[in-house]
Amino acid sequence: MNVLGQALKYGVEKIEEAGIPQAEQDSYRLKFHLMPPAGWLNDPNGLCQSRGLYHVFFQYSPFDVNGGLKIWGHYTSRDLLRWNYEGTPLLPDSPYDCHGVYSGSALTEEDGALKIFYTGNVKHEGAYDYIKEGREANTIYCTSEDGYTFGSKRCVLTGEDYPEDYTCHIRDPKVWKQDGSYYMVLGGRKKGEKERGAILLYRSGDGLHWRIYREMSTEAPFGYMWECPDMFCTGGEWVLSISPQGLPREKFRFQNIYQAGYFLTGSRKMPDILLPEQFIEWDMGFDFYAPQTFEDEKGRRLLIGWIGMPDSSREYGNPTTDFGWQHALTVPRQVTAGKGRLLQAPAEELESLRNRESIPEDGKWTLDSGTAFDMIITDIGSRPFCLVLSEGLELRFSDGVFQMVFLENEAGRKMGAGRTMRQARIPELGKLRILADTSVLELYLNNGEYVFTTRYYPEGKITVEVKSPCASCRLWEMGAMEISYF
Ligand code: FRU
Repeated sequence: MNVLGQALKYGVEKIEEAGIPQAEQDSYRLKFHLMPPAGWLNDPNGLCQSRGLYHVFFQYSPFDVNGGLKIWGHYTSRDLLRWNYEGTPLLPDSPYDCHGVYSGSALTEEDGALKIFYTGNVKHEGAYDYIKEGREANTIYCTSEDGYTFGSKRCVLTGEDYPEDYTCHIRDPKVWKQDGSYYMVLGGRKKGEKERGAILLYRSGDGLHWRIYREMSTEAPFGYMWECPDMFCTGGEWVLSISPQGLPREKFRFQNIYQAGYFLTGSRKMPDILLPEQFIEWDMGFDFYAPQTFEDEKGRRLLIGWIGMPDSSREYGNPTTDFGWQHALTVPRQVTAGKGRLLQAPAEELESLRNRESIPEDGKWTLDSGTAFDMIITDIGSRPFCLVLSEGLELRFSDGVFQMVFLENEAGRKMGAGRTMRQARIPELGKLRILADTSVLELYLNNGEYVFTTRYYPEGKITVEVKSPCASCRLWEMGAMEISYF
């Protein structure tokens, strides 16, 4: 590591040393979700498993609780339950990434070595949204034999390698290997009368020399920028995941400022044209963006998303910033093919965190403050359904609409920290699973056909009241994952 790298690393360690004890005092610190040790976290990066060890890297800014210069933080685990924080392996210490080690991915070779690809952000004078100046988005490669230490960085694609008709917004390489070749998708913002999101697909024989292979987009613009692309085959068809920006808000879809979703292409062949009607949101909650998937050694496709939202600060203030930390990652979700949609289910390992089953009194569960729980409600049928959480959040289903509502009362205002409602049209609600951590809710409807993720901030005892008599419910209190910092 060069001198700048040494200085940065030393600075990060000092900041973490001061920040971790402060963050740990927050009663809203999470029990089974990964968080930044201190400061700010955004996208999951470099998700992979090698020689049994899971690696979760993430966009990290320990310097500033509201984001800022981005580096990669790193967690590892053998069982998705006991995690070690491994520090910050990638710092902005080269001329190609001096303004941020942006998002990227990892690929595991047969011998267990990791190949990492990420975007090196470099800012220059001048506008950088619309034209090809003012910013460099270099694709950088480095390897790790042991999964902890990384070799020298090499720039494999620069501005000159990207097509002329793109702005300088090109980033977030996701790489995979197939039939002896390497493939890389990059998200982009294409110039034109109306700017539009698109994916560039590159191919390489050695992971170092890349050639453009094809471009994938919709016929008419579908948002102006596509971030964090991902591409994989499941159930015999190609799935393309993107985080699009610029989709107009609708009543039942695209309710956040930015979205994250997938195109189910229905085809075994890699597509060129994507159809807007094939696009399905991964998660309809307030806090979900920039997900990434990988295949683990058990052959499962696991997805992790960022529980956060760029630019959300206008309507929402996250109270955890008082303790010097902000945002989290979702639990790993197993993705499988369903009927016309993908299904998402919390990795089954999490079930071993279930402690005792809690029994309701007079149809109501009352749990100690700060209790995390896992609740499964079945036999809802297609009847109307209503559940009230700590008197401030309602989950409702009737007439083909599901709503997650922070009520307009004191409890609701406090819990939602400025949020109101998210809703979706769903034909029927048969089953609901609520994965409730101290300040995160992940709702899985109908075995994960629809998912809603949100931060929430209950105060005092937690109560759960199911107002639909026919449903059958079970609720387990949840223990915590082990996370060791140093
Ligand atoms: C998505 C994103 C990526 C970028 C990273 C920077 O949230 O904007 O496109 O690489 O965050 O932190």
